[in-house]
Amino acid sequence: MNIILMGPPGAGKGTQARHLVETRGMVQLSTGDMLREAKDSGTEMGRVVAGVMARGELVTDEIVIGLIREKIEAGQGDGFIFDGFPRTLAQADALTELLEATGQALDAVIEMEVDDEALVARITARSTCGACGEVYNDATKPQPADGKCSNCGASDFKRRADDNEGSLRTRLMEYYKKTSPLIGYYYAKGDLAKVDGLADIETVQASIAEVLGD
Ligand code: AP5
Ligand code: MG
Repeated sequence: MNIILMGPPGAGKGTQARHLVETRGMVQLSTGDMLREAKDSGTEMGRVVAGVMARGELVTDEIVIGLIREKIEAGQGDGFIFDGFPRTLAQADALTELLEATGQALDAVIEMEVDDEALVARITARSTCGACGEVYNDATKPQPADGKCSNCGASDFKRRADDNEGSLRTRLMEYYKKTSPLIGYYYAKGDLAKVDGLADIETVQASIAEVLGD
């Protein structure tokens, strides 16, 4: 089963993708995580994208399609969760072609509906474990009091360079200009399902499970 999790910055795509990895053995393909890895490992591509990402703008279609192509062609696990991809119509078309070329289908596009007010609060309170990527939130899922990640025990929490109000505004603008039109596109194709992304994390998990037919 291959699915897309779609929603603005802070909608909870990464949080829900990690749960699907744990419970269903799916493979999370987060283009944001892949780009951050490239940036942290100091590759040429990482240097090119660092400023673009910090400002909250979209990286070029060519770069992200290249990253996704490699992963789809490697084909592993029990289906892909596309997290933060596609973000433009060109990326959506490329995904259709890549799946067709490898004999796979897209089973569902899940839109996580949220309101913009909640996003600012979520994003500015987010931190992640630098070792395993577990996602925390100062308000709703605080870092453990002993300073160790509840998932892997590491003590290396990070905040993202683009998690500030200025960059978030640009990320939202990019989402509404370039990505939200894909919701109508997938609705017309008959692939779209909506879940209430403002509910608590467990309720969102249950809504997604229902969409996936569990
Ligand atoms: P990316 O990493 O994809 O960031 P994003 O889309 O801005 O989304 P986030 O990761 O910020 O949010 P999320 O929905 O994953 O929420 P999370 O689960 O963490 O992209 C970053 C940048 O990379 C882009 O700006 C662009 O530059 C580039 N890029 C990436 N992909 C690209 C592409 N395809 N094309 C071009 N450029 C690309 O949750 C957020 C917080 O809320 C956490 O603290 C969490 O604990 C909390 N939370 C989650 N769910 C709930 C809940 N139900 N209730 C309460 N709190 C919750
Ligand atoms: Mg994310």
